Parts: sequence; structure tokens; C-alpha cells
Amino acid sequence: MTDTTADSGTPVFRLVYRSSATMERENRPAELEEIFELSRRNNTDLGLSGALLVWEDTFVQVLEGDEATVRDLYATIAADPRHEDVVLLDAHTVDDRVFARWSMAHISDDEGADLPAARGDEAPDVPHAVPRLEDERQKVVLDLMREYANPDVQPL
Ligand SMILES: Cc1cc2nc3c(=O)[nH]c(=O)nc-3n(C[C@H](O)[C@H](O)[C@H](O)COP(=O)(O)O)c2cc1C
Repeated sequence: MTDTTADSGTPVFRLVYRSSATMERENRPAELEEIFELSRRNNTDLGLSGALLVWEDTFVQVLEGDEATVRDLYATIAADPRHEDVVLLDAHTVDDRVFARWSMAHISDDEGADLPAARGDEAPDVPHAVPRLEDERQKVVLDLMREYANPDVQPL
């Protein structure tokens, strides 16, 4: 197993995309459980970290790690029929991992989420305040993911 926290502090490639779920609503919890379970296993083996925001029909996923590994996995994920309208929003080398602790953090307003995204009073349609934040850098990326969940944000 690769320790995804081992290279914390060294540059890392980060890719962010947005997509729309195609799975039937009633099958979604089971399908998502399957995706998270497999992703956590695969991503750990690949030395990747990241997070998947699940918000209504929208996914926003961050993948962090070696550039070729991240791009390869993105190509696989983009071809997955469980979602559509996959748009690349960001792909850059950055100073550090934000989700080093997670092979794939689950961000949503579900009770079981690793990082909660709450529904704001003022703008109930977009994921809003995240009440318990681990650190400031995570807050920056989470804010960004919530912003990316907005369909008006343009692809790269
Ligand atoms: C929204 C979404 C996010 C996904 N995230 C990952 C991921 O982070 N890691 C991963 O290995 N597979 C992820 N998958 C699953 C991949 O698309 C694919 O099914 C999986 O990697 C197995 O691919 P393979 O059958 O070619 O080995 C995701 C699928 C979806 C729909």
C-alpha cells in the first residue's frame, strides 16, 4: 500500500472535474457506496488522494497525485457511464496535497460524509457552509469545489 500522506509537502498534480450523475435516484446510494469502496482501494494503490462532492445530480471530484497517474484515471472515470457531461475544470501542479488524509473523501450533506457540505439558507441550491473544517487549505479547496458545483463555472 502507498501511504498517500508520505509526500506531503512536495508538489503534486491536482485535477478537478464536474459531471452529472446518470444513475437512477433509488440505486444511487448503493452505486455510490460501490464507487467509494473501489476508489479508496484503487487510489491508495496508485498513491492518489482526493475528494468527491456529491450534490444532488452533480459530482465534483478532485484527484491529487502523480500527473500521468491522475490523467490516466481521469480518462477511465470520464468514460464511466454512471455519469455524463464530464467537464475538466482545473489541472495544475500545486504545492501540496489538500486531501492527503483521504484516498477519496466523501463530501455531501449525507450523515455518513467525511466532510459535510451544508445547505445554505441564502442559496439553498448550492452547497454552502462546511461546519467542521480540518484546516485552512482544505477550506480553500472545498470552497472551490462548491463553486465548481455551480453549472455556470466554465470548463478549462
Ligand atoms: C463519479 C465517479 C468517480 C469515480 N472516482 C474513482 C476514483 O477516484 N478512483 C477509481 O479507481 N475509480 C473511480 N471511479 C470508477 C471508475 O470510473 C472505474 O469504474 C474504476 O476505476 C474501474 O475501472 P476499470 O474497470 O477500468 O478497472 C469513479 C466513477 C465515478 C462515476
